[in-house]
Amino acid sequence: MQIDRKLLIDRLAAFPRLGLADLPTPLEPMKRLTAHLGGPRLWIKRDDATGLGFGGNKLRKLDYVLHDAVSDGADTIVSGGVVQSNSQRQVAAVAAKLGLPCHLAVYHGRLAPPTPEYETSGNAFLNRLFGAQLHDVPWTGDRNAAIRALVDDLRAQGRKPYFVPYGVSNALGAVAYATTICEIEQQAARWGFKPAAIVHCTGSAGTQAGLVIGAASAMPDTRIVGIDIDAEPARVRSDVVTLARQAADLLGVGFDDTIVEVVAGHAGPAYGVPHEATIEAIRLAGQSEALVLDPVYSGKGLAGLIAMIRQGRWRNDEDVIFLHTGGAPALFAYQSALGI
Ligand SMILES: Cc1ncc(COP(=O)(O)O)c(C=O)c1O
Repeated sequence: MQIDRKLLIDRLAAFPRLGLADLPTPLEPMKRLTAHLGGPRLWIKRDDATGLGFGGNKLRKLDYVLHDAVSDGADTIVSGGVVQSNSQRQVAAVAAKLGLPCHLAVYHGRLAPPTPEYETSGNAFLNRLFGAQLHDVPWTGDRNAAIRALVDDLRAQGRKPYFVPYGVSNALGAVAYATTICEIEQQAARWGFKPAAIVHCTGSAGTQAGLVIGAASAMPDTRIVGIDIDAEPARVRSDVVTLARQAADLLGVGFDDTIVEVVAGHAGPAYGVPHEATIEAIRLAGQSEALVLDPVYSGKGLAGLIAMIRQGRWRNDEDVIFLHTGGAPALFAYQSALGI
């Protein structure tokens, strides 16, 4: 079933949100980067500018997910991620704003610390600044087990904890991301164009799941292109399909999994390890557009977009939007490894 933008907006309006994310985020032209690359007209959707606690894509999800926590009467927020997780920093920020204690499972060992400042700077510092209680745990490959164990411990202590999954990627988080499409559709119409594609980095899959659901309903001619940054493209695609199905059910819209595109080959040597193309993308974004990308997510996403432009994927008279998902604080935790 295909529905239009107006109906999608109405259905999204049935889902309450906290209103802590600064929305809509701007959609801006990237004229200097476009000229430099000599390809399609490039635009940037600034989901790095969602505001609270240095912003980022998780705030859009948390606006809905933590509304559910508050409605549920939760007295503690529980989540987790790797040491430089942007997700857990945004969870800590929203919990601070709500005045709720926040417990985070901090995974060690998914990657070897790439710099001396990795364990203490950037998001690791901000987690402490926002007052989160950090629990160091080993990375086992199971993204949610240690978070669930923390929830069980807190419940046994008489608390009412609320479980926020790794990456805030669940069905409600994906529903939240469909709102981006409504914003883009309206903003692009004001600028007078219809994007051929929206390109972004994809990891725990909630962002892409929401984008594909939204686009299928309201921008069917726009391709959503996820750049795998986890070096696990098959797992990422399968998670996008699962979450998109769940989100489509919640919204009462159709979903066809053939539209899900996850592009491999731009994750570098491993998750969290930037390579030359990532560093080139970070430099280019900084020097041509004064944009701050990060070495784990948005830098790899832009590196993927640059590679596809150089391969000639789009014509010069097409418009392509890069969705900036945030991550700037992590840049400082990688500073000495970037040579910038
Ligand atoms: C800056 C940034 N961009 C993109 C992503 C990926 O989004 P998702 O996990 O919804 O795929 C993340 C997730 O941690 C992130 O922190």
